[in-house]
Amino acid sequence: MSSAELRRKFLEFFEKRGHKIIPSSSLIPDDPSVLLTTAGMQQFKKYYTEPALAPAPNVASVQKCFRTSDIDEVGDESHLTFFEMLGNFSFGGYFKKEAIGYAHEFITKILGLEIEYVSIFGGEGKVPEDGESEKIWKSLGFKDIRKFGRKDNFWGPTGKEGPCGPTTEIYINGVEIWNIVFNEYYQKPDGKLEKSKIRGVDTGMGLERLAMIAEGKKNIFETDLFAPLLVLLPADLKERKRRIIADHARALAFLISDGVRPSNKEAGYILRRLMRRLISYGMGQEQNLFEAVVKNYESFYPELNLEKISNVFGEENIKFGKTLNKGLAELQKLEAVDAKAAFRLYESYGLPFEVIKEYTPNLKREDFEAEFQKHQEISRAGQEKKFGGHGLILNTGELKAKDEEELKKVTRLHTATHLLQAALRKVLGEEVRQMGSDITAERTRFDFTFGRKLTPEELKEVENLVNDAVSKNLPVMMEEMNLEDAQKSGALYFFSAKGGSASGGKEKYPAKVKVYSAGDFSKELCGGPHVSNTREVGKFVILKEEAVASGVRRIRAKVLD
Ligand code: GLY
Repeated sequence: MSSAELRRKFLEFFEKRGHKIIPSSSLIPDDPSVLLTTAGMQQFKKYYTEPALAPAPNVASVQKCFRTSDIDEVGDESHLTFFEMLGNFSFGGYFKKEAIGYAHEFITKILGLEIEYVSIFGGEGKVPEDGESEKIWKSLGFKDIRKFGRKDNFWGPTGKEGPCGPTTEIYINGVEIWNIVFNEYYQKPDGKLEKSKIRGVDTGMGLERLAMIAEGKKNIFETDLFAPLLVLLPADLKERKRRIIADHARALAFLISDGVRPSNKEAGYILRRLMRRLISYGMGQEQNLFEAVVKNYESFYPELNLEKISNVFGEENIKFGKTLNKGLAELQKLEAVDAKAAFRLYESYGLPFEVIKEYTPNLKREDFEAEFQKHQEISRAGQEKKFGGHGLILNTGELKAKDEEELKKVTRLHTATHLLQAALRKVLGEEVRQMGSDITAERTRFDFTFGRKLTPEELKEVENLVNDAVSKNLPVMMEEMNLEDAQKSGALYFFSAKGGSASGGKEKYPAKVKVYSAGDFSKELCGGPHVSNTREVGKFVILKEEAVASGVRRIRAKVLD
């Protein structure tokens, strides 16, 4: 069965069962808390709390999705950046019995495939085991029903808050095919789960994986979704590279057609990385690759625009082509490439992390990103000065000379921010959680969850606690550990959306993380940079405390010279 037929059969099946078919939304979501659309439910997110707004109580779609969390895995048998997700959704309409029944019927009767086993939520924390789903699967004759916890069988929300809940998942040939989410909970920005008033269904089935099974192929790249692209590539290229090229060509064609343009931040930064990787693999002139993408997909996605894709890619090829060879030559001259050197190669020649990593497999993404962030903080601090209200204009020469000094300031404020969060939790309680932070050489701005204005006494107490920690000369230590161990160790971390299973999703954090601790005063997951002893932070002063949103407060603070 071809992938076009799979899409058609899926939509037809759900239309016949009372679902309204909704076209894919853009890869650029209207929810500012997520960079790109990562799941079919993204465009329907608000309907789970306000079903009256929904175009129909039950809907189905084939959605364009993009997950950056899987970028390092692309090239293996089953991971992608861009993929299509088949999904059916209910906003307070049907629930577990129907959702499981539909999935079972579609896979076994319509596609004639055999389900190997299923999984259900086994209970964890305050969320109980999903006995109802277990019963439903048993009534359908299943014996192999595996039970897992929050990491595997609980999904969502996307972005900072939203609907989420236990899942039941369908496996064929060891591959997870379909993720069925029961949105019984709403996760607040502070990570707390509330039982939702409306029970919803949100399902996701990766089309590429389904096609692999339905077409009887060994991996997703042998399916008709990729084969027409791969035949165009030089035969002597390594398999992994061929797959990366096919994935990236497809992804960037869709990103550009949805209006993303290359830049040095957010979605534009992701697009630029994909394009530069293709160019560095010698694909800068491969116009026919994009023709093949458009030809293979335009009947379902008429927004694909070959002219736009060619123009945007062509411009990047000219721009990056000028420095690529110099950058590669520079890279090959270096004996060892640490994160700092890698960032310099990126800054001077535009070499993206992925390309540098090909030559230096030990380079870690977190370390590179920490360098990237450091640089952005410094340049933002520079920008603020340049355009600040004091008529103070620095030229770039002066800015460079100031770099080291500003970096030191930023580093001190990074550690100060950890101390601030720990102090806030000691004074106000454990409900305080980080919602965001922004550090320049001038000040730190820290957003956190708390329900009311702080009293002047509380603010003083927080400030005093931080200054006590500073005067105690606490050593600041960094330890690398597995994400799970880090979370178990009680280190604070930024609660984030879990990826989904349609592409083998992951948390926003990498599997190995850095945990910074200041004595036993504070312990947090963080990329750094930090001072090595709290005494280097210097005197800490709170400048201002205010509300930024309901339940979220903001503190601005600085350290004195
Ligand atoms: N929203 C379900 C999934 O992404 O798997």
